[in-house]
Amino acid sequence: ISLKTHNTFGIDVKARYFVEITGLVQLQKVLELKAYPKKFIISGGSNMLLTKDIDALVMHINLKGISIVEENENEVEIKVMAGENWHDLVTWSLDKGYGGLENLSLIPGNTGTAPIQNIGAYGVELKDVFVSCAAMEIKTGELVGFDNEACKFGYRDSVFKNEAKGQYIITSVHLKLTKKDHVLHTGYGAIEAELKKNGIVYPTIKDVSNAVIAIRQSKLPNPAVLGNSGSFFKNPVISKKAFEKFIKKNPEAPHYEVDDEAFKIPAGWLIEQCGYKGKRFGDAGVHEKQALVLVNYGSATGEDILRLAQLVQKEVAQKFNIKIQPEVNIIK
Ligand code: EPU
Repeated sequence: ISLKTHNTFGIDVKARYFVEITGLVQLQKVLELKAYPKKFIISGGSNMLLTKDIDALVMHINLKGISIVEENENEVEIKVMAGENWHDLVTWSLDKGYGGLENLSLIPGNTGTAPIQNIGAYGVELKDVFVSCAAMEIKTGELVGFDNEACKFGYRDSVFKNEAKGQYIITSVHLKLTKKDHVLHTGYGAIEAELKKNGIVYPTIKDVSNAVIAIRQSKLPNPAVLGNSGSFFKNPVISKKAFEKFIKKNPEAPHYEVDDEAFKIPAGWLIEQCGYKGKRFGDAGVHEKQALVLVNYGSATGEDILRLAQLVQKEVAQKFNIKIQPEVNIIK
């Protein structure tokens, strides 16, 4: 079976075996199957670059359901099964009047994979609303809980990308949202400008969500139309010393202070300066409106995209002496 519709890059590789996972007991049973020693987990497929056929049993995690665990007049804790589409969840929460997810509108992918890279956008990260998740240990089939601290969240980072990598399947996520007195995060320049443009002075959570949707739609390609995985690279964090040297040479570069010792530079800016924004090699390209996003114009292979990514990395390293690292999980 082709995995083309199971990854947002739209890469046409094949799975040797494929199973749809819709229940926890089924998940446990499939993990026990000795006949298929090699297993490969796929969820929304929005953060991976597949470069070859998968010679394994591909397990598509399609666990569904959203429920309220606990609530009082101020807050609500919800349980979301891993296979729920992230943006559908955001829409659900906004319809209920729950605050907390509005800045994370329109992020591709499913809820179960959101903790792995601590999805984030416009000044908010998953960790800000995350309570805990349940995960099944692949080796034992046992369900384990990870609270916010145990997940060791960082910028596009968590325990699931490090010590626990490849060992668990996240089955559900608990989030804490607000029912009133929402704290809005509108400090991000583009959000402010978008609200102002629409004459909104006292924004609601829906207004903030709409602003984020408008900004994203203006520069990020819709994977249903143009294959992509969002930001292909992480924004590099460099030391203060390296930053001082860098900014002297490039005084116009956008940058954010992470702390006293470290600065973050937008990789999109670095790539654009190298002349790669909008460049296309066959069907693999750098998006014309956001250089941080690599796109598949139709029939690019994973190898084509990977070659382009390596070229971009090399050019940025040569011009700026800064190493940019992929954010996307590259399956080789
Ligand atoms: N920039 C350029 N050229 C470009 C792209 C960006 O000069 O081609 C400059 C912009 O002008 C701006 C700065 O770089 O000054 C930052 O750009 P933007 O606000 O678009 O955000 P980003 O740093 O490129 C990050 C996240 C996005 C997230 C936005 C908003 C990462 C790797 N990416 O992008 O996340 O939506 O901030 O918070 O941190 C994703 O992870 O898939 C993703 C889309």
